[in-house]
Amino acid sequence: MSVSLRLGDLRDKQPRRITIDGVPVAVVRVGTEVFAVNDTCSHAEVSLAEGEVSGCEIECWLHGSRFDLRTGEPSGPPAFESITTYPVQIEGVGDDAVVLVAVPEEAR
Ligand code: FES
Repeated sequence: MSVSLRLGDLRDKQPRRITIDGVPVAVVRVGTEVFAVNDTCSHAEVSLAEGEVSGCEIECWLHGSRFDLRTGEPSGPPAFESITTYPVQIEGVGDDAVVLVAVPEEAR
């Protein structure tokens, strides 16, 4: 299942939490790119969408682990496991472009 958003409604480096078929997803715009990751820290199951984004990393607000938005890999402890990343497609240009975020069935 997928959800569509308008690119102009996503603020740069301000994660938005959405739910796709029961799966919490943090959608993050970084410039003209958009990333989607599972919105649950792999360390203690808190929302990553409440964390800060720097470059292409999102930082967990609770203990400070940073995750690469492109790969889901943590850059340091206390988290050691990756978070799941989801495919994003952008159709169109400018703020009216449509952002499609998909959660594949096997990832639910
Ligand atoms: S809960 Fe995210 S680093 Fe601990």
